[in-house]
Amino acid sequence: LATALTSVSIAQENLKGLTIGFSQIGSESGWRAAETSVTKQQAEALGIDLKFADAQQKQENQIKAIRGFIAQGVDAILVAPVVATGWEDVLTEAKEAEIPVMLLDRGVDAPEDLYLTSVASDQVLEGRVAGEWLVKEVGDADCNVVELQGTVGSTPAINRKKGFEEAIAGHANIVIAQSQTGDFTRAKGKEVMEAFIKSSNNGADICAVYAHNDDMAVGAIQAIKDAGLKPGTDIKVVSIDAVPDIFAAMAAGEANATVELTPDMAGPAFAALSAYLADGTEPEKFIITESKLYTPADDPQGEYDRRKGLGY
Ligand code: AHR
Repeated sequence: LATALTSVSIAQENLKGLTIGFSQIGSESGWRAAETSVTKQQAEALGIDLKFADAQQKQENQIKAIRGFIAQGVDAILVAPVVATGWEDVLTEAKEAEIPVMLLDRGVDAPEDLYLTSVASDQVLEGRVAGEWLVKEVGDADCNVVELQGTVGSTPAINRKKGFEEAIAGHANIVIAQSQTGDFTRAKGKEVMEAFIKSSNNGADICAVYAHNDDMAVGAIQAIKDAGLKPGTDIKVVSIDAVPDIFAAMAAGEANATVELTPDMAGPAFAALSAYLADGTEPEKFIITESKLYTPADDPQGEYDRRKGLGY
């Protein structure tokens, strides 16, 4: 079966009727909401009984949910791990119960034999693609960048920072002037951007904002407008996710670039599980999704409409 929402084809028969627990981080961003809805729709299309647990951003809630899934004797577990560390015990418990675990969109610092597969983007590459775009965009001009980091201790925050820094290394004209977490939320992105603007000559000293996700970028855009400046022109905006709202901002000339993160992490995970259950095929340990750059040259209104049409 190939559902409308996934590009991978999944054998439906051996997943039908399975009970799969899904420990989701929460609903901090538009991207997260899209991943949740894509996963639920795919589970339904495949005849899977998906037990969904929203952890409200807390690792302790995720661990509790996973222990609950183990106690219920689910057939498999999906986890989007909020932070990288602290998973070894609970993943070991799942392994001892012979329940395959599939990681979605973020990684963990734990032995690889504790999970079946990890479906995620190359987050260092995402940061690099964003940084390379900026390097090209500013040329030789001096550029002070402010950075809105994702959730502290999460793999996308760590890796997107690293990749961006790699891209601007060797370009002395581009400097990260300020960097702080906005926790992947719109409200925090706005609040932190307001503080950055206040401490940077009312924004005059800022050339660009690099946000680790689109939601923080959208919050930053609002802060830039509130300060009487033009986002996209006075301060360039580059971020990651490619959710509909950033395309709306691009169409309005208020955002300059985004790197796509597909919300379809469950499709490849279900396909891997299906093959594993069929004949023990060990999937790739790391299934890497694409990281495509979008700019206003890429028909932002069309991209907005397309994503909305997919229910993102
Ligand atoms: O782990 C993926 C990141 O988590 C997305 O980029 C962000 O929007 C989400 O909160």
